[in-house]
Amino acid sequence: MGGLHRGHSELIQTATRCYPKNASSVLVSIFVNPLQFGPEEDFDSYPRDLDQDCEIARQANAQAIWVPPITEIFPNGPDSHFKLKAPSQLQQHLCGASRKGHFDGVATVICRLLKLVQPQVLVLGEKDWQQFIIVRNLIKDLGLPVRLVGVPTVRDHDGLAYSSRNSYLSKVLRQKALALPQSLQKAAKEIELGREINLNKIKSDLKQAGLKVEYLERVDPLSLEPVKTAQSISLLAAAVKCGATRLIDHTFLMNRKPIVAIDGPAGAGKSTVTKAFAKKLGLLYLDTGAMYRAVTWLILKKKIDPENKEAISRVLTNLKLDLNHSQTGSQNVIINGNNVSEAIRSPEITSLVSQIATKGPVREALTTQQKALGLRGGLVAEGRDIGSAVFPDAELKVFLTASPSERARRRANDLKEKGFKVPDLITLEKQIEERDKIDSSREISPLKEAEGAVRLITDGLSVQGVVNILVELFRSKVPEEVWPTPQTN
Ligand code: DC
Repeated sequence: MGGLHRGHSELIQTATRCYPKNASSVLVSIFVNPLQFGPEEDFDSYPRDLDQDCEIARQANAQAIWVPPITEIFPNGPDSHFKLKAPSQLQQHLCGASRKGHFDGVATVICRLLKLVQPQVLVLGEKDWQQFIIVRNLIKDLGLPVRLVGVPTVRDHDGLAYSSRNSYLSKVLRQKALALPQSLQKAAKEIELGREINLNKIKSDLKQAGLKVEYLERVDPLSLEPVKTAQSISLLAAAVKCGATRLIDHTFLMNRKPIVAIDGPAGAGKSTVTKAFAKKLGLLYLDTGAMYRAVTWLILKKKIDPENKEAISRVLTNLKLDLNHSQTGSQNVIINGNNVSEAIRSPEITSLVSQIATKGPVREALTTQQKALGLRGGLVAEGRDIGSAVFPDAELKVFLTASPSERARRRANDLKEKGFKVPDLITLEKQIEERDKIDSSREISPLKEAEGAVRLITDGLSVQGVVNILVELFRSKVPEEVWPTPQTN
């Protein structure tokens, strides 16, 4: 809506930086939309300074600014234009509760702007989180051919979120306004430290600081429904009046960083895509299959009967299993001081690992270690029971699969690359199906689609294609503000 500031510059720069290949130019649209202002609101006085906006857009490397008159957007006037209605569930709380019709006005104009511009990518700030979620649902529900990218809230040096309306604040009021980000940050810290927060106490702190609280709510970031029980990520959002100026701000409350769980049958290509996905998003990569393989290696080396649970338990008591990544990105698997990174990929281990993975003591030891590694989050783990047993509260759960023939083909390539003898495809397919049968019929934590998992069938998709889908899925669950995409990408 104009009144550009550093937050907008960041949107423009994100657009230029991230999409040089598939977007030829960055266009900034400036339109103060009458449909999203209530009768008592500041439509007439909303900051409009086109010269300054042009300068800021130019400095941020925009190629074009589009400032349509109202008649171009609503040829017969705003009142007689066809209106969209945003879902009521998404408007019941936060700003939607007090600004009746506001998000309907936002949805209507965004749809119209997208139809007129037909951009490949739409970049929006996450500062107006409710708006962001509503626009995301609008794009999805109406099947609009545009990719939505969010940009984290940009803050001034004193912590106040940039907003065009900050220009209404006097020096004294601006000082008062700082209580808003400060209270939110304090709450986020409490949750990070594992303590609970009291919304009434925060409200009264804000009042004490001279702000009038319109709302302070803790909601699920995606459904925008109030959060009753603690969950790993929730949104704490507020609107306050600072003098006559309405300000909004939010923070994401997190007791750990995000977790992604990727499960699926043998040979679906999980490790290749998970590794690439982890790198792209800067998440730690946890290959739990390698852990089961390493234990299988140890059991074989010690010549333990795979059916002798006691002997297996004994060997697990002093287990030292370490997974790390070398500078070149390859994975090192060290078990009791032995580097078994290559040895665990042998056909001998592959044919025995599923049987070993059915054993209670093995599952218990490895699951405990995996949970400990995931305590602080910030990782993507792949395996068979990650979404169902190890991290059932993962933000994103994916069940990655492919047809048995496709998986056999991939396994053959894999074996060839590693210098092993390659059986014919029919034999490979049979071996794969046999492992799937053992993995999905075992008593403890069998391979299955976890509750809430997205099923991704990868036949006909390239590795890059699957990684791109995973990134999109991740972004549909985890805001940039919670886990920013590393800038090198
Ligand atoms: O993904 P992979 O082929 O490296 O896995 C080897 C075996 O380990 C697999 O057949 C079953 C077992 N496994 C498991 O039971 N649970 C996991 N989370 C990961 C692997």
